[in-house]
Amino acid sequence: MDYQRITLKPISGSLGAIVHGINMAEPLDDELYNELKQALLENLVIFLPDQEVTPDQQVAFGRRFGELHIHPFIPHLEGHKEIINLKVATGKKDTLRLANQWHPDLSYTDDPPLAAILRAVTIPSRGGDTMWVNLYKAYETLSEPMQEFLSGLSAWHDVTKTYRRQDLQKEGGAELYWNTFKKAPPTLQPLVQVHPETGRKLLYISELTTTHIEGLNPAESDALLQMLFDHINWKELQCRFYWSVNTVAMWDNRCTCHYAVRDYDEPREMHRVTVLGKVFN
Ligand SMILES: [Fe+2]
Repeated sequence: MDYQRITLKPISGSLGAIVHGINMAEPLDDELYNELKQALLENLVIFLPDQEVTPDQQVAFGRRFGELHIHPFIPHLEGHKEIINLKVATGKKDTLRLANQWHPDLSYTDDPPLAAILRAVTIPSRGGDTMWVNLYKAYETLSEPMQEFLSGLSAWHDVTKTYRRQDLQKEGGAELYWNTFKKAPPTLQPLVQVHPETGRKLLYISELTTTHIEGLNPAESDALLQMLFDHINWKELQCRFYWSVNTVAMWDNRCTCHYAVRDYDEPREMHRVTVLGKVFN
């Protein structure tokens, strides 16, 4: 597509582009909205630098694309229930491996959101990058027999996969696990999906929450999932972004996984709004 109002600079051979010409503090007119939407569908993740916006402005920007999600677990920004506050304090190591595993957001829900809009509020002096992987390319780079085999299969996504034996053995750990399980029961997602707007096929998988493939023996399922997790870890399918304060990343959550690199020991704070729906407004 030819863009009249915005300019794009791709950051890798697979996905991701820096977009200039957007001011999130102002309402998007229809032409700008359509160009931004197109940029996202073509590049899967876009980066908008220098967006010094208030929480209300970030919420208003997100609402332009669809209804916003209220997260059941992650704490929200005080006074703004639509904004989740991803905050890491100094020195705290994320040894559990949560956001630093490949995942689409909320794949363990029946209707995973279509997009996320993440703004860097505080960033470490080095590190703290985020990576994305192109799930269309993940599908396209599998062999034809494997594509066909996976096309008939669905996999379970379960948020309690993030719980470890150590958590369960703590006082109240089992209750917490069971409460989470009841609040967000596992859901089946087809391994091969068709993007509702581009019509392209993609491999839908989450290292963070995919537990097993329906209908396969446990050993078959474990081996196949490990192969697919290794496959999306292929660097040629990915991009990596170094943040600046007030840069906003917006990604298509239907055809990407992301990975928050946990290599820093300084405070980091990011504000996210999450857009619900199957297709954009
Ligand atoms: Fe995430």
